[in-house]
Amino acid sequence: MDDFRRIVIVAYRLPFTIRIRNGALTAVQNSGGLVSAVLSLTERMKKAASGTPATTVWVGKGEHDAGQLNSLPEVKETFELVPVKIPDNVNEKFYGGFCNDLVWPLFHYFPSITVFGQGYYENYLKANELFFKELRKVIQPGDFIWIHDYQLFLLPEMVRREFPDASVAFFLHIPFPSWEVFRIMPDGYQQAIIKGLLGADLIGFHTHDYAQHFLKSVRRSMGYDISLNTVMADNIYSRADAFPISIDFNKFHDAVSLPETEKYLTRIRKHKRDRLLIFSVDRLDYTKGFLNRLAAFELFLERYGQMRGKVVFNMVMVPSRDTIVRYQEMKKEIEATVGRINGRFGTLDWNPIAYQYKSLKFNEMIALYTLSDAGLLTPLRDGMNLVAKEYVAAQSEKHGMLVLSEMAGAAAEMSEAILVNPSDISQTADAIYQALVMPDDEKKKRIEAMKNRLRNYDVFSWADDILRTTVRVKNDRKKFRVRLISRDIEERLTESFRKSSKPLLFLDYDGTLVPIRELPELAIPEASLTDLTGKLAATADVVIISGRKREFLEKWFSDIDVTLVAEHGAFIRHPGGRWESSLDHDDGWKERFMPLLDRYTARCKGSFVEEKMASLSWHYRNADEDLAALRAIELKNELEESIQNMPLQVIEGHKVVEVKMSGYNKGSAARKLMTQRRSDFIIAIGDDRTDEELFGALPEHAVTIKVGKGQTRARYSFLKQSEVVAFLTRLAGVRKAD
Ligand code: UDP
Ligand code: G6P
Repeated sequence: MDDFRRIVIVAYRLPFTIRIRNGALTAVQNSGGLVSAVLSLTERMKKAASGTPATTVWVGKGEHDAGQLNSLPEVKETFELVPVKIPDNVNEKFYGGFCNDLVWPLFHYFPSITVFGQGYYENYLKANELFFKELRKVIQPGDFIWIHDYQLFLLPEMVRREFPDASVAFFLHIPFPSWEVFRIMPDGYQQAIIKGLLGADLIGFHTHDYAQHFLKSVRRSMGYDISLNTVMADNIYSRADAFPISIDFNKFHDAVSLPETEKYLTRIRKHKRDRLLIFSVDRLDYTKGFLNRLAAFELFLERYGQMRGKVVFNMVMVPSRDTIVRYQEMKKEIEATVGRINGRFGTLDWNPIAYQYKSLKFNEMIALYTLSDAGLLTPLRDGMNLVAKEYVAAQSEKHGMLVLSEMAGAAAEMSEAILVNPSDISQTADAIYQALVMPDDEKKKRIEAMKNRLRNYDVFSWADDILRTTVRVKNDRKKFRVRLISRDIEERLTESFRKSSKPLLFLDYDGTLVPIRELPELAIPEASLTDLTGKLAATADVVIISGRKREFLEKWFSDIDVTLVAEHGAFIRHPGGRWESSLDHDDGWKERFMPLLDRYTARCKGSFVEEKMASLSWHYRNADEDLAALRAIELKNELEESIQNMPLQVIEGHKVVEVKMSGYNKGSAARKLMTQRRSDFIIAIGDDRTDEELFGALPEHAVTIKVGKGQTRARYSFLKQSEVVAFLTRLAGVRKAD
């Protein structure tokens, strides 16, 4: 909290509905949880900054001038609004087109109705630029910029480009689809969306699955490195994670006792009489599964005849996107179905479905939640479904039961609800019955468990979590940047190397001296590299410390004055000398393990086995990344189980699992060499997990350098292998041979 001075929200919609009444503007604040959460964060910032006037800035689409909006009394106290004017012709292809004809259906798994219309993307880009044009005018140091939803995918990167130090979070309110669905989009759109999002420090999703889908798309579409949930590439350091949005729990829980709720309670009770009441509230949208729900309700009436006349289903459909033809057609079809079911089962004094096409007032919704015996929320896909959470929070003395689609993000946190597959009409019909006849104590147990979870993680904790995680990512990013070798650091290191009387260099081979190639045999040193190594070895002790076999190292480096360490420390060869090893050579174990490794090679296309004197390696750098990662874990487990009580160990390197004789590693080899060569300046460079043992074995004052991103013990990092060669070339130039 102390890290930020102000919140800047950017969303397609402003937090007020603006109308003209009697020629004057009026503003009504939207009641969504996000608005309350943001206001509460601002309050806390004000307190932390002891009274500094901290208004929250909200950038969103608006037709009126900022001056006009911000002078409205309802606005003045809470937000500083920054309206973004988007011409109608742009908005049509941006909002109606790219957002709601392309992203919305595709991200909700409706590829067959996804439209890749002419000019959609161009206008999407234009609209994002219009947002940025306004946003950039208000950004100040110390702002927490929080961008929302699929209308603004490109914005984080625009901010990052012009404000490299800005703190930016993005939250996606809809699902992020699996890679197989995401890749249906043209490559250019995929990459624009991913690059756009990666401008944010933190990218939040409702569920762990959505975050994983996104990360997989980043890997497949862009080929970027991901370490845990963090994407690292040139100028990118961005984390993706799950932050399930929640509700203002107390607001929904306590509202039943408000006097304004009472009149709606009375009205609903009058119509309900002694009947059981089922409700649903959703925006008119094909993702919400109205037709499936009606089919399930119809089957329920058919199958459980005893319930006819005793149950009313109050289906509220909230008008939404009604200028889009698909939505208008869907409305007609739903209304026809409601009419048909009421016609089929209705009697003079009972209609099974009470259908409303309108939005409800807050207290009216609370009354409906409170008096309903069951909530029937069965979207075909839904990012979260807040109504499900609100219904549960509003239950008090007499508990209802929730029938919830497992395709809603909310299902991940609400396992005590009756979860259904919304396409399974029969299962849903039975679930309705089960909800209505469930014993009170069971309903209570299930609802209270969900309520506790909602109470503990409400919308305030959600917003707080996102804010705090953004601070953490920022700090991690800084640490990561600090490790990168700047020009200054490089000059200092070169100077120490020059002055040193006896420098010692430990250089890993693959990924450090040469780039990683598809097959190890392709990664041979060019003449310039052997020349460079020779030049370094003329004035310093150089150790090439590698996982390679002895023959390979000897072939390329025996003519120069370097010490060679082969097979991760199993063998050491001093300049001009013979290979030494303290290992007991017993090849019997390799025969035993070879068939196991071969089996994994057969199960994972592109992987291969390399046999060395003291080890067997299973390489998977050319295999499908996800499959290979899984197989690598399986192989490691299987090997670890089978080597028990044998003098062997299993290690993981960069895209390789290795079983090798125990008792040595790069660290132990380095320790041994250090006792033989006293040195006043040590540099060690490596890219691999096996080099971490080397780094760990060296004294505090040693200069340890990791090549690439990811976790490391090393003090410094180079991003690319080519930087190592450039650095060594500089080192070689500063020392004079005796
Ligand atoms: N809602 C509302 N007025 C209504 C009906 C619903 O303000 O007449 C609110 C409801 O309380 C909920 C939100 O609209 O907070 C709907 O969110 P949900 O996640 O269920 O669906 P979405 O509309 O985002 O797809
Ligand atoms: C979903 C989206 C929001 C959107 C809302 C209403 O909840 O995630 O970004 O604002 O639906 O849709 P609308 O098109 O009316 O803004």
